[in-house]
Amino acid sequence: SPHTVTTLPTTRQPGCPFDPPAELLDARRHGPISRYTHPGGRPGWLITGYDLVRSVLADPRFSSRKELMNVVDFELPPASPGEFLLTDEPQHSRYRKPLVGRFTVRRMRLLTERVEQVTAACLDAMEEAGPSADLVASFARPIPAVIICELLGVPYEERDSFQRQTEALMSGEPTEEELIAAYTAVQEYVARLVAAKRAHPTDDVLSELTDSDLTDEELQGVGLTLLAAGLDTTANMLSLGTFALLRNPAQLAALRADPALADRAVEELLRYLTVAKSFMRTALEDVELGGQTIEAGTTVVLSYHTANRDPERFADPQVLDIGRQSVGHLAFGHGIHQCLGQQLARVELRVALPALFDRFPALRLAVPPEEVELRPEFADIFGVKSLPVTWDEEES
Ligand code: HEM
Repeated sequence: SPHTVTTLPTTRQPGCPFDPPAELLDARRHGPISRYTHPGGRPGWLITGYDLVRSVLADPRFSSRKELMNVVDFELPPASPGEFLLTDEPQHSRYRKPLVGRFTVRRMRLLTERVEQVTAACLDAMEEAGPSADLVASFARPIPAVIICELLGVPYEERDSFQRQTEALMSGEPTEEELIAAYTAVQEYVARLVAAKRAHPTDDVLSELTDSDLTDEELQGVGLTLLAAGLDTTANMLSLGTFALLRNPAQLAALRADPALADRAVEELLRYLTVAKSFMRTALEDVELGGQTIEAGTTVVLSYHTANRDPERFADPQVLDIGRQSVGHLAFGHGIHQCLGQQLARVELRVALPALFDRFPALRLAVPPEEVELRPEFADIFGVKSLPVTWDEEES
């Protein structure tokens, strides 16, 4: 009979802020699929093995539709129009297709220079205020925020409040009341933005989409999805990536010695950290999987983080090794919902992380590592709440 996991762990092991919780690694050791009970009491499955996670993501018998999620004992509302992360084909393509051309490798490479400018401005401000900083507030949050706001055409003066609210949505920290307030505020904001782009199109993704057959409501959903998916993920990769490199000085030294390693280092950090830790899918029919039958209507939890630490796929998976071939990792998912913004995220990480270590050669944590405050494990996106760093003034 399969291994059983009754509840998902709420904390990571002390001293191992980058590793999946012990219970998840333990589940993987028992096999790639475990019986699992959703927090709402519904029976489900937990998939921790790389091959099985990937096969579910490529299998149209598994749905991303929100209203099919069988995790609580009341029915969830369907995704809002335009919220394509939570839809299946053919609705999904209707939203994703008009966006793809805006997010190609080529298009995103063109943004490199702008990312360099924004990064340099953040580093200048840090240097001026230094020799210490909270890396989350001064570096990790503003870089992706400025870039995505430009991409969407969010006016500069509205970016601050906008960014704080979207982050409140993702951090897993605010109360339910705060969450609803933040969600409402962001939704209203995006509605105003769409109306403004319809009236006066500018050169950005949302304006371009006003040429498609999507309704205003759908455009709002698309805008909201881009923001919710693109801001907090990249910010946490930047802050947690810095933390991980500072905790692995030999890896950091190797990256410094050979800037050509930056691309590989970014892929490895994506694999190792997997900040978007897990997603769910629901079986549309009975499916045989890893020797078990997933009954129609049952929701499975896919642990991307544990899959990316699968010893059958990656040798010494718990080791951060920026020289390894991490290609094929699941940090951006796989299949039809594979991250639309992955090339943008890569550009930001490849530019910003080396620039940070270049500007501050003596960058180090300003607190003992165990005092760095982590997000709770139940947050959708993993990360640090703040990352106090310091450097030597004369060296910068
Ligand atoms: C989807 C991770 C950055 C936009 C996804 C998925 C993952 C992911 C795992 C798939 C979810 C699933 O399987 O259901 C990440 C990570 C990022 C990042 C780790 C940063 C390092 C971005 C950025 C953008 C973005 C910068 C946009 C500008 C999206 C969108 C989807 C998505 C729109 C939904 C795609 C679909 O349903 O077809 N992302 N993402 N992401 N991501 Fe990202």
